[in-house]
Amino acid sequence: MSFAVSADAYGRFMGRFSEPLAAHLADAADVRPGHRAADVGCGPGALTAELVARLGEDAVVAVDPSPPFVAATRARFPGVQVVEGVAEALPFADDTVDRALAQLVVHFMSDPVRGIAEMARVTRPGGVVAACVWDHAGGGSPLTTFWDAVHDLDPDAPGEATLAGAREGHLVELFEEAGLRDVQGSRLAVDVAFASADAWWEPFTLGVGPAGAYVARLDADARDALRRRCAELLPEPPFDLTAAAWCAVGVV
Ligand SMILES: C[S@@+](CC[C@H](N)C(=O)[O-])C[C@H]1O[C@@H](n2cnc3c(N)ncnc32)[C@H](O)[C@@H]1O
Repeated sequence: MSFAVSADAYGRFMGRFSEPLAAHLADAADVRPGHRAADVGCGPGALTAELVARLGEDAVVAVDPSPPFVAATRARFPGVQVVEGVAEALPFADDTVDRALAQLVVHFMSDPVRGIAEMARVTRPGGVVAACVWDHAGGGSPLTTFWDAVHDLDPDAPGEATLAGAREGHLVELFEEAGLRDVQGSRLAVDVAFASADAWWEPFTLGVGPAGAYVARLDADARDALRRRCAELLPEPPFDLTAAAWCAVGVV
């Protein structure tokens, strides 16, 4: 499982993008003081931190299947109930939160419609479910340069473009299939600064997610060729990368 990694490795790989993204998702879901919220697929707590800042630890629950991420989020927020589990069978009772959010998780669910329907089940009637997935299909993800370089060298390699919610409009379709009402789609974007191509590349060697798992399978020569191809595709350093995610928000 490519998320059985340390919170530090995740933070260096994806946290640099998902931490700034969290405020945008919480805004899209209209998370306000007085709400109770669930963070589904919390990882090491990028979105949990945003929810805690808005609502307080007592008003936030979180769930993730990765034991090191559950341990990291529990240690970071001792007042948050953090449970090991999956979206498709949420370990929370019906109608117990006002907001259920999943940041960068739907594309990893084994059954996305069931996972989103579970988020609706734990949310009270009139409450809101929200999720976002990087725009892998449209070339707007933080991993676009990586997968472009991979496919230049290895055209048959897998990627993330065909995953659930990663193309325009698909997350909205999944929300409607899961029974949510008044579903609205939008696009969220963050800018992240990099000092060099090496600073950008190094976290790909930490084994995080499908990209890290792909690098881990390469021998030293293939890995070096991929690193060099990525450097050719990246802007001249220092550079900023804009990463965009498709977002859907629906009412229970
Ligand atoms: C890209 S990370 C996102 C973590 C965090 N939400 C963030 O924004 O940084 C994907 C997370 O989804 C979790 N995950 C994978 N499959 C899941 C499922 N079926 N239900 C809930 N979470 C899942 C992984 O363990 C991982 O923590």
